[in-house]
Amino acid sequence: MGQKISPVKGTRDVLPGDTYLKKDDPWIRTGHLHLIEQAARELFPLYGYREARTPVLERTALFARGIGDATDIVAKEMYTFEDRDGTQVSMRPEGTASLVRAYVEHAVQQQEPDTKWWYAGPMFRHERQQRGRYRQFTQIGVEALGSPGPRIDAEQIEMLDRWLRALGIPFEMHLNTLGDAQCRPAYRTALQDYLRAHSAELCEDCRKRVETNPIRVLDCKNPQCQEVAAGAPKMEQFLCAACREHFDGLRAALGRLGVAHVVDPKLVRGLDYYTRTTYEAIATSGLGSQSTVAGGGRYDGLTRELGGGDVPGIGFAAGVERLALLVAQAGRELAVHPLVFFAPLGPEEEARADALALELRKAGIPAEVSFRRSNPGNQMKRADALGARFALVLGDAEMKTGRGKLKELKTGAEHEVDLSALPAALRRLAP
Ligand code: HAM
Repeated sequence: MGQKISPVKGTRDVLPGDTYLKKDDPWIRTGHLHLIEQAARELFPLYGYREARTPVLERTALFARGIGDATDIVAKEMYTFEDRDGTQVSMRPEGTASLVRAYVEHAVQQQEPDTKWWYAGPMFRHERQQRGRYRQFTQIGVEALGSPGPRIDAEQIEMLDRWLRALGIPFEMHLNTLGDAQCRPAYRTALQDYLRAHSAELCEDCRKRVETNPIRVLDCKNPQCQEVAAGAPKMEQFLCAACREHFDGLRAALGRLGVAHVVDPKLVRGLDYYTRTTYEAIATSGLGSQSTVAGGGRYDGLTRELGGGDVPGIGFAAGVERLALLVAQAGRELAVHPLVFFAPLGPEEEARADALALELRKAGIPAEVSFRRSNPGNQMKRADALGARFALVLGDAEMKTGRGKLKELKTGAEHEVDLSALPAALRRLAP
């Protein structure tokens, strides 16, 4: 017998059933993912977002330039390798750079003034694995290109808010502004001066960040760095008039749309492309340290950086596994269970069960037949395990009379029905 091959660290299988049950760390089932995906598929088109699909593999340069060389994602976490023809390629660590590449590649700007795309799929980051943080994970995200905001910013944040509420996620919406090419350089210099003066108090990573990416020091989790960050100059004091107006306009629009939010000056995000608006939905319980369920912001310079025109953009991406952990804890999922489980007792009955099940499926009613010969008690157990609502035992008597008993598994109640009119009977019993 060959040796078992274990999965790659940081990846996980998602199956339709539970392989273990723990209240504080529920197993993610495909039914949880379906609930999340279905809600997005229904909601996003109401706001004009249409689905786009881009490859998992891209040239490494796309992310180096798009996300930024100095970011943790590009510097430490990408799965990068040389393709057989010598091209440097990476498994995408996020979707925004890829979608903007496609937008530029296909000259979408010339075809429509505003573009709204949504996407879903696996992303790859070589991070330290923990609950809610994996090396292969799934994002559902959106990107809106063409409008400088702030009305579109507010519309998008309201959509995220509505989606998470529909899923029953407990969260707070955090909001910040990072300024733009006009005002951020002065802020960066002031921040750098301040951090250099406190360099001895910073962790080793942050001491490097002071020179490469000082803004990231503000969201370091190290308590000493947080203390230094608390006294640092704030972007707000440096905002130019246009950025100030944008931020005030966004907050007013969110007020009109009824979106509760918290202004959070520490919200700086881990990717370099952001300008002005940044936002995150942070779970208020149930996730531990990896509590950001969705994050996004405006990236007005990215399209130009990737070879396109000056096209403003804003988007967000949500971590589907994190949402699934919360949905699982709330006991919600989208799962299809058989309405009827047929338990035939002999060969003739088996043929009849197969025919009845086909009739139900043609009528759009989920049905399952037993493929095993065993006593009715065991058959009921199987029906229960499948989550069937009714079981129907087919034996001699049923074959002779053409009538059978639909047994409701939860209550034990029995309903006598005419086997030749089963779909109609089921519609009456389970409308
Ligand atoms: P991000 O903040 O890097 O942003 O990721 C978005 C979300 O993906 C996170 O809030 C988290 O829920 C989930 N996520 C990230 N890394 C992991 C991981 N290792 N395991 C599980 N979940 C994870 C972006 O990716 C941007 N592209 C978002 C965006 C779109 N900005 C503008 N448009």
